[in-house]
Amino acid sequence: MSGNTFGVIFRVTTWGESHGPAVGAVVDGCPPGLELSSDDIQGQLNRRRPGTGQGSSPRQEEDRVEILSGVYQGRTIGTPIGLLIRNREVKSSDYESLEDIFRPGHGDWTYFKKYGIWDHRGGGRASGRETAARVAAGAVARKVIARAGIEVFAYTLELGGTAVEDFSRAEIPKNRFLCPDSRAAEKMGERIKAAMVEGDSLGGVVEVRVTGCPPGLGEPVFDKMDADLAKALMSLGTVKGIEIGAGLEAARMKGSMSNDPIAPGGFMANRAGGILAGITNGEEIVIRAACKPIPSIEKEQDTIDLHGKPRRVSVGGRHDVCVIPRIIPVCEAMVCMVMADHLLRQKSIS
Ligand SMILES: Cc1cc2nc3c(=O)[nH]c(=O)nc-3n(C[C@H](O)[C@H](O)[C@H](O)COP(=O)(O)O)c2cc1C
Repeated sequence: MSGNTFGVIFRVTTWGESHGPAVGAVVDGCPPGLELSSDDIQGQLNRRRPGTGQGSSPRQEEDRVEILSGVYQGRTIGTPIGLLIRNREVKSSDYESLEDIFRPGHGDWTYFKKYGIWDHRGGGRASGRETAARVAAGAVARKVIARAGIEVFAYTLELGGTAVEDFSRAEIPKNRFLCPDSRAAEKMGERIKAAMVEGDSLGGVVEVRVTGCPPGLGEPVFDKMDADLAKALMSLGTVKGIEIGAGLEAARMKGSMSNDPIAPGGFMANRAGGILAGITNGEEIVIRAACKPIPSIEKEQDTIDLHGKPRRVSVGGRHDVCVIPRIIPVCEAMVCMVMADHLLRQKSIS
């Protein structure tokens, strides 16, 4: 199966299925001499762990990372960094009833059509579990970009139709939805409760920001910074739409409104979201990812079985009600990888 590697210089390959013995990542191209410990990675993994909040899958995974290679005496040595996270709380019995049946909205049917065989237990490779490996690799990327003063952070902008009205960065880590507006976060909690009672699920919007990014990162023409960011986030399950800066709203503006005027001291607005012609302009990068509702729901739905016969399906087992907030550290990880890759690409020419 190809398509499991991302990046040009800072290259990340992930492997593993939801109900296999482990998931993991190989990070190649990381510069030598970078201080790296399992604690650096563990801190990020703990933010993504299941079973840590209302509406989150009750699967209780420890998500302990083991560094298998590429680090000696607390520093990277320039060789591939092998990262392993064992799957300890696998409960494949939850999936027995789904052995010959396709869940609407999930990858069961498309994987079956592509390969003629699929691991139905927990979504296999299409499971959110795979993203643990991305978070581990993203923690390495985060250290690479931190040396250049680049920081990535993300938060909930909208959940189940409830949108943020106020912004306080200090508020983000204080509520379970990583939402910069405490009142909106309360309403989001009510939406989750109601969806759980209905046996249904919800979607939402994550906003990611990159601060401290120098001008000049991004490549013409296929590897533009915005193109790579969109691909990075679109490669996550549930992400169905991406906006950069003014995003779709720019289509309704006139040029005089959408352009960011330039003064001797810098740009006077940031509707471009920090990127012009695919190259960073030194302003904050602003990206939004729209996530669809989690496909596995208890509410009965129409589907078919392996023989094409109509069936009704109600998906039990351990599932998230909304991919938010668990997807937030994953979005950050993907953006960190893109920034690390482009930073190293720029260094190779300058
Ligand atoms: C962090 C994370 C957790 C997820 N948890 C679940 C889950 O518990 N149940 C489920 O059915 N899908 C879950 N998903 C979503 C599926 O992986 C995704 O919807 C599926 O692969 C189909 O891909 P698509 O949504 O991009 O079409 C999760 C995704 C992510 C990123």
